[in-house]
Amino acid sequence: MGGEIDIVGHLHNDNVSVVFATLNDVLFIAHLGRPLGDEELDPSLFSRGVVGGGLDTEVVAGIVPLPSQGWMGLPGLEVSRWGERLQLNLQYVTVKELSDSLKFILADHLEAITVTVTARLHHSGVVVFSTQVSNEDTEAVSINSVHTCLPIGGHANEILTLGGRHAMEAVQQRTTWGRTKQILENRSGRTSHEQLGVVFAGTPGFTEQTGEVWGVHVAWSGNFRIMCDGISETLKTIHAGELLLPNEVILDDDPDFNTPDVVVSYSSQGLTKASQQFHHYLRSFRTSSPKPVVLNTWEAVYFNHDLDTLKNLATVAARVGIERFVLDDGWFHGRRNDTAGLGDWWVDDSVWPNGLEPLISHVTSLGMDFGLWFEPEMVNPNSDLYRLRPEWVLDGMRDDALLGRHQLVLDMSQEDVREYLFEKIDALLRTYKISFVKWDHNRPLVAGATHHQTHGFYELLSSLKFAHPSVQFESCASGGGRIDMGVAQWAERFWASDSIDALDRLEIQKGLTTFIPPDMLGSHIGSPTCHTTGRKHALSFRAATALFGWLGVEWNLLNLTEREEQQLAHVIDFYKQHRSLIHRGDFIRVDHSDSTIDIRGVMSANQEHGVFSVSRLRSGPSNHSAPLRLPVNVASAYTVSLVHLGSPRWALHRQLPDWVNQKEFTVSGAVLANIGLPMPALLPESSFILEVGPVISS
Ligand code: GLA
Repeated sequence: MGGEIDIVGHLHNDNVSVVFATLNDVLFIAHLGRPLGDEELDPSLFSRGVVGGGLDTEVVAGIVPLPSQGWMGLPGLEVSRWGERLQLNLQYVTVKELSDSLKFILADHLEAITVTVTARLHHSGVVVFSTQVSNEDTEAVSINSVHTCLPIGGHANEILTLGGRHAMEAVQQRTTWGRTKQILENRSGRTSHEQLGVVFAGTPGFTEQTGEVWGVHVAWSGNFRIMCDGISETLKTIHAGELLLPNEVILDDDPDFNTPDVVVSYSSQGLTKASQQFHHYLRSFRTSSPKPVVLNTWEAVYFNHDLDTLKNLATVAARVGIERFVLDDGWFHGRRNDTAGLGDWWVDDSVWPNGLEPLISHVTSLGMDFGLWFEPEMVNPNSDLYRLRPEWVLDGMRDDALLGRHQLVLDMSQEDVREYLFEKIDALLRTYKISFVKWDHNRPLVAGATHHQTHGFYELLSSLKFAHPSVQFESCASGGGRIDMGVAQWAERFWASDSIDALDRLEIQKGLTTFIPPDMLGSHIGSPTCHTTGRKHALSFRAATALFGWLGVEWNLLNLTEREEQQLAHVIDFYKQHRSLIHRGDFIRVDHSDSTIDIRGVMSANQEHGVFSVSRLRSGPSNHSAPLRLPVNVASAYTVSLVHLGSPRWALHRQLPDWVNQKEFTVSGAVLANIGLPMPALLPESSFILEVGPVISS
């Protein structure tokens, strides 16, 4: 009826345990969740027995589950040789223990395929899985699919996913996870607006602060598949990996295929904690430095580049406290609108007769650094590059090639293409003092394979980063179309969305912060009337929304009234004073019973300081919403103050709660966390900021 279970590895810390075991030489995760400490585990407790109506042997969800081993769900590995699908039977060979990771070797000796699965428990709390498939035969092998199988267990019954559209990305969607299979699939060639590569499964009704949550992310900027399976073997499993097309990857001269990392964050204290572990993981990619306040020229001038106007803009920018001036689209050869120029990466001398130097020296003389926009992987048919090299374009030689924003996509798998782009971008980075590159990608790829395209992109970006280590890169794809932990190896900022509508941004950033730290999310204060939605918002609301991100401004500052300029300078000053707390502290989305109220903020690691925004999204059902409970240390006492980034927009009232009128007051952590502050009535689409700090005894 079956063999015995052996435990072959256990990664654990205070928050999570991952137990690896074998049954009949099939490697599987026996437990992924609550921490078990150092306890000696009885392997027999992981045996589920054999039930009627099925196979005569116990079936486990292998970490690379295979049909030959009784698995009837999505196979973990599908390969073919000579066009024939191989019936693989990968057997556990050995495990190597490294300081924070385990490396498991599996092999099918008959078919000469070896698989190495590495599981690393990172100090942030996340577990990172990666898989290498090696072809040991001289005959080539085609890799059709590789998915890591993560058994979540029977307790999870809800799934939270993120998706949407251009200018309204990362909207949260919850579904019940019953006896269903749910697939999150992306075939757009970039991470996409429609479906982000992350899923959170959790226990019934999990909230920001309660419930068990498993977050799974594929760290990859191309096509991917995540399948949540509640049917096969009635054991809930999540299968995650790159989505490959037939014959997209063939192992011949290069015998190895490496999957993107699958990053898993488990929390027994709700979604926020799972997010914080993801945040700490991403923050560990580089040493933290203050993130300069950005002014981006796009919504200020669009394609109307004029040296004097841009210099004046820079002068006002410096006056309000901006630290980085980013020249967006429109500066290069032939780029007067979005129908031409992409590919011709040299400065347009009809608009910039003396190059970019006059602008850059003005910007740097004002104490700001300078950033420049590129869209390297794209080409307009109306460009010198396309006229010269049509064969460099994916589908470009076809008469029926589909255009997106009047552009085609360069084939990044070609070395010549990468060399051309490197040479052009490198020359600009060498000629000018450029500290920041906004790297855009404004159209999806269609119907194509994207494995080599994505690796080509990574190769170009990494070689530029290597050649210019101090230059910071922003990943943008018409806003939030390329947000993932794959590109985060080189990009320190994401442009979260082309919509800077503060109300929509609250939702977009709420979704994105489930796995990306706020300090990586480009978050701009836009014009009083949002360009993408036409909605009007007060500066206090726009500022409170943008504060919990990497702050920027995207507004024609030449049109500001004196009062607006003063207010904006005040907001930027407040941000600068608090940015190390906002960017390094623990970001918290706070539960509140009224869904029209949004509370989010940051607490320092020692729980002494915090900043929170409280926003009313729309009119709520009651004038007296539940109190504001803040997640502070119940054993401490705090001073609390209300911060006005512009005038507060209180709803009709005769008297506000007393605390609102006090400049600063002292309250115990127990009261703040357990009872909370009476919620003042706010108008819809408005916010206020609360600051908490330690009580200094005199
Ligand atoms: C995309 C970006 C914008 C801007 C334009 C320029 O839409 O998301 O921020 O850079 O391209 O064409």
